[in-house]
Amino acid sequence: MEKNFKRTLVTSALPYANGPVHIGHLAGVYVPADIYVRYLRLKGEDVLFIGGSDEHGVPVTIRAKKEGITPQDVVDRYHKIIKESFEGFGISFDVYSRTTSDTHRQLASDFFRKLYDEGKFVELESEQYYDEGEQQFLTDRNIRGECPRCHAPEAYGDQCEKCGATLSPDELINPYNADSGNALVKRKTSHWYLPLDNYQPWLEEWILNEHKEWRSNVYGQCKSWLDTGLKPRAVTRDLNWGIPVPVEGAEGKVLYVWFDAPIGYISNTKELLPDTWETWWKSKDTRLVHFIGKDNIVFHCIVFPSMLKAHGDYVLPDNVPSNEFLNLEDDKISTSRNWAVWLNEYLVDFPGKQDVLRYVLTANAPETKDNNFTWKDFQARNNNELVAVYGNFVNRALVLTKKYFDGKVPVCGEFTDYDKGIIDEFVNVKGLVEQLLDQFKFREAQKEAMNLARIGNRYLAETEPWKLAKTDLNRVATILNISLQLVANLSIAFEPFLPFSSKKLRDMLQYDSFQWENLGSIDLLSPGHELGEVSLLFEKIEDDAIQAQLDRLARIKKENEEANYKANPIRKECSFDDFLKLDMRVGTVLECTKVPKADKLLQFKIDDGLETRTILSGIAKHFNPEELVGKQVCFIANLPPRTMRGVVSEGMILSAEDNEGKLSLLTVAPTAKPGSEIK
Ligand code: MF3
Ligand code: ZN
Repeated sequence: MEKNFKRTLVTSALPYANGPVHIGHLAGVYVPADIYVRYLRLKGEDVLFIGGSDEHGVPVTIRAKKEGITPQDVVDRYHKIIKESFEGFGISFDVYSRTTSDTHRQLASDFFRKLYDEGKFVELESEQYYDEGEQQFLTDRNIRGECPRCHAPEAYGDQCEKCGATLSPDELINPYNADSGNALVKRKTSHWYLPLDNYQPWLEEWILNEHKEWRSNVYGQCKSWLDTGLKPRAVTRDLNWGIPVPVEGAEGKVLYVWFDAPIGYISNTKELLPDTWETWWKSKDTRLVHFIGKDNIVFHCIVFPSMLKAHGDYVLPDNVPSNEFLNLEDDKISTSRNWAVWLNEYLVDFPGKQDVLRYVLTANAPETKDNNFTWKDFQARNNNELVAVYGNFVNRALVLTKKYFDGKVPVCGEFTDYDKGIIDEFVNVKGLVEQLLDQFKFREAQKEAMNLARIGNRYLAETEPWKLAKTDLNRVATILNISLQLVANLSIAFEPFLPFSSKKLRDMLQYDSFQWENLGSIDLLSPGHELGEVSLLFEKIEDDAIQAQLDRLARIKKENEEANYKANPIRKECSFDDFLKLDMRVGTVLECTKVPKADKLLQFKIDDGLETRTILSGIAKHFNPEELVGKQVCFIANLPPRTMRGVVSEGMILSAEDNEGKLSLLTVAPTAKPGSEIK
């Protein structure tokens, strides 16, 4: 069914304001959304791009507690950082607001109340974990305990970060309050639930039948939720940070963050357009598109649409282009482990290079599967594609025009057959890019745009105008005219993808009135039109800038490893009598040498306070024999002698081994006499 939409309302997931945003956010949600709205705007369509910060939820309260500040302080800080990061990268929101705004509080509260009044919720009592010391119910994220799968000691109530298992608090072994450390008890509490099971038949029809065109990852996830069967979902929580439940007697309860946050799309539209927002949300000819990451699919395809359906006034999403995840240097991006490239830091480390990151993230967009960002690839794509292909073509066309035609667009003569072939190739690009963008295939669309520059480079390499200048300036004029038209086309084709560079390029061309419709035209610049100042469109990125980033990541990896270090578990109990059987002594190392042809063995001569004994020890990889001479070591003196490599070993030297196999020799203070007994 072909639908006649009059306007497109584009939303991008509201990021949690409990930390800065990173490349995973940009690649998964904000760059694709921005490309899409820039494209629609260029086509002259009626489009709104809604963003904002998601400021409620438990993680905000956890961070606040950790830092000894209020939740409002936390979200004020990160809302600002996030907003500035998006501005820095040219994410062209029409509004970027927040879920702590008055408009939002009111609208979300009214939304809930309408559903409540119309009996759209069910009220259910359940047992939840409660901290009696703090007199507080806990949410999943605040509960920690041992993971039932991998036995990591500090899994969260909703997920184990060690093994990735999705959990419920009930599965945790010995649950405790992550903040207070107190053990938890179960206590009864009552909450409002949205009975998703009632919406199941409708959802099946609406998604599985009417939206077969959704991306297969999105469609597939919805199908699997629906196949499992939907259950009522709680839309309120016992928490003191959030929008109060607008029902008498519900003190201490707030709207669940996933209930209020998506309503933020509506409130932020209302904040921007207090008079006309309803046209955007309530007319059937609005096309609503949600850009999100894959962990948000169920909320945007099942829960929020059910809320909208229950409410009844609002349009439903027409599409929900969701991306998979981006990894960083082969590791999952993680805010808590600081394993990320933070956008605010990138803007400082690579000033003026926003488009490079936009380009690389789109070229590697995790559209159909998880993808990987590496700094080496970032450098290679900049140097080999942006600089060597796009920048190089632009630079040659402009510099040659300056050189031979005084910086003015030369008059075009007759086309050769070769020229015609080239023009045919690039005229096609418009249709291709459009088709791909309309299907949210940003990665391939950008590749097609890049193809224009490849065509241009090939054209110059083939026609070699610099060789013709002396003999046939008219031919040079034609070649450069065509090349300049191509350059102007590039500035349009790349506008949705690389807005900063497109602007820079248009400044060089002195070309400012342009539309998407012009793409593919070979009359964009008239003969005689004067070019502006020429500079490099992109610059090479050197190894040291990349190495600095790799060093930073290596440092973080090391810190994480140290922070995560866990000793091996304690062994089974041993009786005191058994312990007493061991005769452990102090000895002075008189000699220590490597055993020839045995790369692991050291041979010790030890003064044990009675006589000199020989001990062989397999620790040669860890110590330098000369350094051990004169040390007081500890050894077991009453083990039966063992022969190794023809030498009799009379005991065992003790050292401490960490769980990664690193050894430290057990020594005692030099005042300990040889032969002292260790007990
Ligand atoms: N804050 C959520 C996240 O980062 C996304 C919220 S999207 C909204 O995963 F629709 F709820 F706003
Ligand atoms: Zn686990």
